[in-house]
Amino acid sequence: MIAEERIPETSPLEDESLANYYSRMAKKYMRFPLKRVLSRIRALGVEEGLALDVGTGPGIFPLWIAQALTGIKFIAIDLSPAMIQEAQFNAKEMGLEDRVLFQVGSAYALPLRDKTVDLIICLNTLHHLEDPLSFFNEASRVLKEGGKFVMVDLRRDAPKPVAIFFNLLWRLMIREARARKGLWNSLKASFTLEECKKLLQRSALQGWKIYPQAIEMWIESA
Ligand SMILES: C[S@@+](CC[C@H](N)C(=O)[O-])C[C@H]1O[C@@H](n2cnc3c(N)ncnc32)[C@H](O)[C@@H]1O
Repeated sequence: MIAEERIPETSPLEDESLANYYSRMAKKYMRFPLKRVLSRIRALGVEEGLALDVGTGPGIFPLWIAQALTGIKFIAIDLSPAMIQEAQFNAKEMGLEDRVLFQVGSAYALPLRDKTVDLIICLNTLHHLEDPLSFFNEASRVLKEGGKFVMVDLRRDAPKPVAIFFNLLWRLMIREARARKGLWNSLKASFTLEECKKLLQRSALQGWKIYPQAIEMWIESA
Protein backbone atom coordinates (compact mmCIF):
# COMPACT_ATOMS: atom_id res chain seq x y z
CA MET A 1 0.00 0.00 0.00
CA ILE A 2 1.37 3.43 -0.95
CA ALA A 3 -0.93 5.50 1.27
CA GLU A 4 -3.88 4.48 3.47
CA GLU A 5 -6.01 7.42 2.32
CA ARG A 6 -6.13 8.94 -1.18
CA ILE A 7 -4.27 12.22 -1.55
CA PRO A 8 -5.83 13.93 -4.60
CA GLU A 9 -3.38 15.51 -7.02
CA THR A 10 -3.38 19.21 -7.67
CA SER A 11 -3.06 18.75 -11.41
CA PRO A 12 -0.67 21.08 -13.25
CA LEU A 13 -1.58 19.55 -16.61
CA GLU A 14 -3.14 22.71 -18.02
CA ASP A 15 0.34 24.27 -18.05
CA GLU A 16 1.40 24.58 -21.72
CA SER A 17 5.08 23.80 -21.27
CA LEU A 18 4.29 20.74 -19.13
CA ALA A 19 1.73 19.55 -21.67
CA ASN A 20 4.40 19.82 -24.35
CA TYR A 21 6.89 17.95 -22.16
CA TYR A 22 4.29 15.24 -21.45
CA SER A 23 3.69 14.92 -25.18
CA ARG A 24 7.41 14.46 -25.95
CA MET A 25 7.82 11.91 -23.15
CA ALA A 26 4.73 9.99 -24.27
CA LYS A 27 6.09 9.70 -27.82
CA LYS A 28 9.38 8.43 -26.42
CA TYR A 29 8.17 5.95 -23.80
CA MET A 30 4.60 4.85 -24.56
CA ARG A 31 5.29 2.24 -27.29
CA PHE A 32 5.32 -0.65 -24.83
CA PRO A 33 2.15 0.44 -22.94
CA LEU A 34 0.51 0.93 -26.35
CA LYS A 35 1.28 -2.69 -27.33
CA ARG A 36 -0.41 -3.93 -24.15
CA VAL A 37 -3.54 -1.82 -24.70
CA LEU A 38 -3.71 -2.72 -28.38
CA SER A 39 -3.46 -6.42 -27.64
CA ARG A 40 -6.43 -6.15 -25.23
CA ILE A 41 -8.49 -4.21 -27.81
CA ARG A 42 -7.73 -6.89 -30.41
CA ALA A 43 -8.56 -9.64 -27.90
CA LEU A 44 -11.97 -7.97 -27.37
CA GLY A 45 -12.53 -8.20 -31.11
CA VAL A 46 -12.76 -4.47 -31.86
CA GLU A 47 -11.37 -3.72 -35.33
CA GLU A 48 -13.70 -0.94 -36.52
CA GLY A 49 -16.31 1.59 -35.47
CA LEU A 50 -16.41 4.67 -33.24
CA ALA A 51 -14.04 4.81 -30.27
CA LEU A 52 -13.82 7.32 -27.43
CA ASP A 53 -10.70 8.15 -25.42
CA VAL A 54 -11.34 9.90 -22.10
CA GLY A 55 -8.47 11.93 -20.59
CA THR A 56 -6.48 11.69 -23.80
CA GLY A 57 -3.65 14.06 -22.78
CA PRO A 58 -1.45 14.61 -25.85
CA GLY A 59 -3.46 11.99 -27.74
CA ILE A 60 -0.64 9.52 -28.35
CA PHE A 61 -2.74 6.43 -27.55
CA PRO A 62 -5.71 7.10 -29.86
CA LEU A 63 -3.34 8.23 -32.64
CA TRP A 64 -1.23 5.10 -32.47
CA ILE A 65 -4.29 2.85 -32.10
CA ALA A 66 -5.94 4.52 -35.12
CA GLN A 67 -2.74 3.95 -37.07
CA ALA A 68 -2.80 0.23 -36.18
CA LEU A 69 -6.57 -0.31 -36.57
CA THR A 70 -7.51 1.57 -39.70
CA GLY A 71 -11.25 0.85 -39.38
CA ILE A 72 -11.52 2.88 -36.18
CA LYS A 73 -12.48 6.54 -35.86
CA PHE A 74 -11.77 8.26 -32.54
CA ILE A 75 -13.24 11.08 -30.55
CA ALA A 76 -10.76 11.94 -27.82
CA ILE A 77 -11.47 14.37 -24.98
CA ASP A 78 -9.53 16.06 -22.22
CA LEU A 79 -10.36 18.72 -19.66
CA SER A 80 -7.13 20.59 -20.44
CA PRO A 81 -7.11 22.92 -23.49
CA ALA A 82 -3.27 22.81 -23.44
CA MET A 83 -3.33 19.02 -23.83
CA ILE A 84 -5.92 19.21 -26.61
CA GLN A 85 -3.73 21.72 -28.44
CA GLU A 86 -0.77 19.29 -28.22
CA ALA A 87 -3.00 16.42 -29.34
CA GLN A 88 -4.28 18.37 -32.37
CA PHE A 89 -0.70 19.19 -33.34
CA ASN A 90 0.24 15.49 -33.03
CA ALA A 91 -2.77 14.47 -35.15
CA LYS A 92 -1.72 16.85 -37.93
CA GLU A 93 1.87 15.66 -37.75
CA MET A 94 0.66 12.07 -38.25
CA GLY A 95 -1.91 12.98 -40.91
CA LEU A 96 -4.73 11.57 -38.79
CA GLU A 97 -6.77 14.70 -38.09
CA ASP A 98 -9.73 13.36 -40.12
CA ARG A 99 -9.95 10.12 -38.17
CA VAL A 100 -8.98 11.23 -34.65
CA LEU A 101 -10.95 14.26 -33.45
CA PHE A 102 -9.75 15.97 -30.30
CA GLN A 103 -11.91 18.24 -28.21
CA VAL A 104 -12.01 19.75 -24.74
CA GLY A 105 -14.51 17.77 -22.70
CA SER A 106 -15.23 16.19 -19.34
CA ALA A 107 -15.38 12.56 -18.26
CA TYR A 108 -18.57 13.50 -16.39
CA ALA A 109 -20.46 14.73 -19.48
CA LEU A 110 -19.29 12.72 -22.48
CA PRO A 111 -20.05 14.62 -25.70
CA LEU A 112 -21.89 11.74 -27.36
CA ARG A 113 -25.43 10.45 -27.73
CA ASP A 114 -26.65 7.30 -25.93
CA LYS A 115 -25.51 3.92 -27.30
CA THR A 116 -23.28 5.26 -30.08
CA VAL A 117 -19.78 4.07 -29.13
CA ASP A 118 -18.11 0.75 -29.95
CA LEU A 119 -15.05 1.17 -27.72
CA ILE A 120 -14.03 3.35 -24.78
CA ILE A 121 -10.46 3.68 -23.59
CA CYS A 122 -9.42 5.63 -20.50
CA LEU A 123 -5.72 5.42 -19.68
CA ASN A 124 -3.87 6.81 -16.68
CA THR A 125 -6.75 9.16 -15.91
CA LEU A 126 -9.00 7.62 -13.22
CA HIS A 127 -6.73 8.95 -10.45
CA HIS A 128 -7.55 12.50 -11.64
CA LEU A 129 -11.27 11.92 -11.13
CA GLU A 130 -12.97 12.87 -7.88
CA ASP A 131 -16.11 11.05 -9.00
CA PRO A 132 -15.25 7.95 -11.08
CA LEU A 133 -18.77 6.59 -10.46
CA SER A 134 -20.28 9.37 -12.60
CA PHE A 135 -17.75 8.61 -15.32
CA PHE A 136 -18.59 4.87 -15.27
CA ASN A 137 -22.29 5.79 -15.57
CA GLU A 138 -21.52 8.07 -18.52
CA ALA A 139 -19.45 5.30 -20.14
CA SER A 140 -22.40 2.92 -19.76
CA ARG A 141 -24.75 5.51 -21.30
CA VAL A 142 -22.74 6.08 -24.50
CA LEU A 143 -21.62 2.49 -25.13
CA LYS A 144 -23.56 0.50 -27.70
CA GLU A 145 -25.07 -2.79 -26.63
CA GLY A 146 -22.04 -5.10 -26.60
CA GLY A 147 -19.63 -2.13 -26.80
CA LYS A 148 -16.20 -2.74 -25.25
CA PHE A 149 -13.91 -0.84 -22.91
CA VAL A 150 -10.32 -0.88 -21.69
CA MET A 151 -9.42 1.33 -18.72
CA VAL A 152 -6.04 1.32 -17.04
CA ASP A 153 -4.80 3.28 -14.06
CA LEU A 154 -2.38 3.17 -11.17
CA ARG A 155 -3.53 1.60 -7.91
CA ARG A 156 -2.69 2.84 -4.43
CA ASP A 157 -2.60 -0.72 -3.08
CA ALA A 158 0.33 -1.70 -5.33
CA PRO A 159 3.09 -3.53 -3.43
CA LYS A 160 5.40 -0.82 -2.10
CA PRO A 161 8.74 -2.40 -3.25
CA VAL A 162 7.37 -2.72 -6.79
CA ALA A 163 6.13 0.88 -6.72
CA ILE A 164 9.53 2.08 -5.45
CA PHE A 165 11.22 0.25 -8.34
CA PHE A 166 8.92 1.85 -10.95
CA ASN A 167 9.35 5.24 -9.31
CA LEU A 168 13.13 4.90 -9.57
CA LEU A 169 12.83 4.13 -13.30
CA TRP A 170 10.51 7.12 -13.71
CA ARG A 171 12.95 9.46 -11.98
CA LEU A 172 15.77 8.22 -14.23
CA MET A 173 13.70 8.90 -17.37
CA ILE A 174 12.18 12.25 -16.40
CA ARG A 175 14.47 15.27 -16.62
CA GLU A 176 11.85 17.99 -16.03
CA ALA A 177 12.02 18.86 -12.30
CA ARG A 178 8.28 19.62 -12.02
CA ALA A 179 7.37 16.17 -13.34
CA ARG A 180 9.82 14.06 -11.36
CA LYS A 181 7.50 13.53 -8.38
CA GLY A 182 4.67 12.84 -10.81
CA LEU A 183 4.46 9.08 -10.57
CA TRP A 184 4.55 8.95 -6.77
CA ASN A 185 1.96 11.71 -6.44
CA SER A 186 -0.26 9.95 -8.97
CA LEU A 187 0.08 6.68 -7.06
CA LYS A 188 -1.02 8.47 -3.87
CA ALA A 189 -3.98 9.96 -5.73
CA SER A 190 -5.06 6.65 -7.21
CA PHE A 191 -7.81 4.32 -6.03
CA THR A 192 -7.20 0.87 -4.62
CA LEU A 193 -8.47 -2.07 -6.63
CA GLU A 194 -11.14 -2.72 -3.97
CA GLU A 195 -12.29 0.93 -3.97
CA CYS A 196 -12.59 0.85 -7.74
CA LYS A 197 -14.40 -2.49 -7.70
CA LYS A 198 -17.00 -1.10 -5.25
CA LEU A 199 -17.56 1.93 -7.49
CA LEU A 200 -18.00 -0.32 -10.53
CA GLN A 201 -20.51 -2.45 -8.62
CA ARG A 202 -22.55 0.66 -7.79
CA SER A 203 -22.38 1.95 -11.37
CA ALA A 204 -24.56 1.25 -14.41
CA LEU A 205 -21.58 -0.22 -16.28
CA GLN A 206 -22.14 -3.92 -16.89
CA GLY A 207 -19.94 -6.82 -17.95
CA TRP A 208 -16.61 -5.65 -16.52
CA LYS A 209 -13.65 -7.41 -15.00
CA ILE A 210 -10.93 -5.80 -12.92
CA TYR A 211 -7.49 -7.20 -12.22
CA PRO A 212 -4.12 -6.03 -10.87
CA GLN A 213 -0.93 -5.77 -12.93
CA ALA A 214 2.25 -4.60 -11.09
CA ILE A 215 1.39 -1.00 -10.02
CA GLU A 216 -1.75 -0.79 -12.21
CA MET A 217 -5.30 -2.02 -12.32
CA TRP A 218 -7.00 -2.96 -15.58
CA ILE A 219 -10.73 -2.69 -16.03
CA GLU A 220 -12.09 -4.15 -19.21
CA SER A 221 -15.08 -5.83 -20.78
CA ALA A 222 -15.45 -9.38 -19.46
C1 LIG B 1 -1.96 11.43 -16.75
S1 LIG B 1 -2.83 12.15 -18.07
C2 LIG B 1 -3.06 10.73 -19.14
C3 LIG B 1 -3.04 11.08 -20.59
C4 LIG B 1 -3.12 9.90 -21.55
N1 LIG B 1 -4.35 9.15 -21.40
C5 LIG B 1 -1.93 9.00 -21.40
O1 LIG B 1 -2.06 7.91 -20.84
O2 LIG B 1 -0.84 9.39 -21.86
C6 LIG B 1 -4.46 12.40 -17.43
C7 LIG B 1 -5.30 13.35 -18.25
O3 LIG B 1 -6.63 13.37 -17.74
C8 LIG B 1 -7.13 14.68 -17.92
N2 LIG B 1 -8.31 14.86 -17.04
C9 LIG B 1 -8.33 15.10 -15.72
N3 LIG B 1 -9.60 15.19 -15.27
C10 LIG B 1 -10.41 15.01 -16.34
C11 LIG B 1 -11.82 15.01 -16.54
N4 LIG B 1 -12.68 15.19 -15.52
N5 LIG B 1 -12.31 14.82 -17.80
C12 LIG B 1 -11.47 14.63 -18.84
N6 LIG B 1 -10.12 14.62 -18.71
C13 LIG B 1 -9.59 14.81 -17.49
C14 LIG B 1 -5.94 15.58 -17.57
O4 LIG B 1 -6.08 16.88 -18.10
C15 LIG B 1 -4.80 14.78 -18.21
O5 LIG B 1 -4.48 15.21 -19.49
